[in-house]
Amino acid sequence: MNFSRITGVGFYVPETVVTNHDLEKLMDTSDAWITERSGIKERRFFTEGKDTVSNMGARAAQMAIERAGLTPQDIDFIIFATLSPDYNFPGSGVLLQRELPFREIGALDVRAQCSGFIYGVSIADQFIKSGMYKRILVVGAEIQSNILELSTRNRDFAVLFGDGAGAVVIEKTDNPDRRILSTHLHSEGKYAEDLILEHPGSRLKDRMSTKIVEEGRHLPFMKGSAVFKHAVTRFSEVIDEALQANNLQTTDIDMLVPHQANLRISEAVRQKMGLPEDKVYNNIQKYGNTTAATIPICLSELWEQNRLKEGDLVCLAAFGSGFTWASALIRW
Ligand code: UT7
Repeated sequence: MNFSRITGVGFYVPETVVTNHDLEKLMDTSDAWITERSGIKERRFFTEGKDTVSNMGARAAQMAIERAGLTPQDIDFIIFATLSPDYNFPGSGVLLQRELPFREIGALDVRAQCSGFIYGVSIADQFIKSGMYKRILVVGAEIQSNILELSTRNRDFAVLFGDGAGAVVIEKTDNPDRRILSTHLHSEGKYAEDLILEHPGSRLKDRMSTKIVEEGRHLPFMKGSAVFKHAVTRFSEVIDEALQANNLQTTDIDMLVPHQANLRISEAVRQKMGLPEDKVYNNIQKYGNTTAATIPICLSELWEQNRLKEGDLVCLAAFGSGFTWASALIRW
């Protein structure tokens, strides 16, 4: 039987650190409000001319490939999760393909926003189980600082997001004791407009106009408290679904890695599930919400801290725009 396993993890964040105090100078907000409502203290913003979504993804990928003991030539397929691709088309996966010395392998962009990385892991797992590929690179990378209007009008959104990239290598294994146990994917499109960046899209003849800009419809929009409530419910549901599918209990989890949307969401989920603090990993304090990149960045930091031990039960879970939500249960 073919199984799949994460064998390498890597990440890259841009060097420019933007603190809450920096944002205080640009809009009517405060370090106290941001810290209390989201847990975030600082985030990274990209440098134009240096960082792109695809080259940040490549830096994270290079690290993950090296840590797996491989070279880019060994990779059979690229999955690139992002809501902020370099171009409208082509996707960032093909741009990544030219950043490192890969073979002429397939490259697929995944558009499932905050759940994009877990969707990517699930796709990789299925390709490997089917026998089609042996080694797949899954990347989550975002540049979001340039869709944030750093002003009071957009402050509820602007203070939450940051830029960054994470990557994992997923390889075929026949060891049933160390593998991805299952993945669970969901969506509910009726809430699509509750967390959205509408323009430039393809619905209007003029994809971009002064009217759109004046009305602020080129900026991301979020019904913050509605998203918050759905997130807490769906996170818990999709973690339970993963545990039940594998006849496991909450107490079996060694490490829960939630998508980093808001420290209060992670904390509410932790309390709802009765997990101790040291079994839930958070780094939103340092990076804000980097959307598809949060989970692989967390995994990379956990690996560096030697906190992912052989045989540990690791649960990944995400919720975001779409709405989409997803989980993956891994025997590390
Ligand atoms: O990755 C998935 C996508 N995103 C999420 O999961 C985010 C989900 N939502 C959230 O994290 C929270 O809803 C927010 C952090 C966005 C907001 O926290 P909240 O506790 O739900 O606050 P609120 O929206 O109820 O706003 C409370 C007040 C409002 O003022 P009034 O109407 O009570 O006078 C806002 O205008 O806070 C005000 N406010 C701010 N004040 C200072 C909103 N943004 C800011 C800000 N600084 N940046």
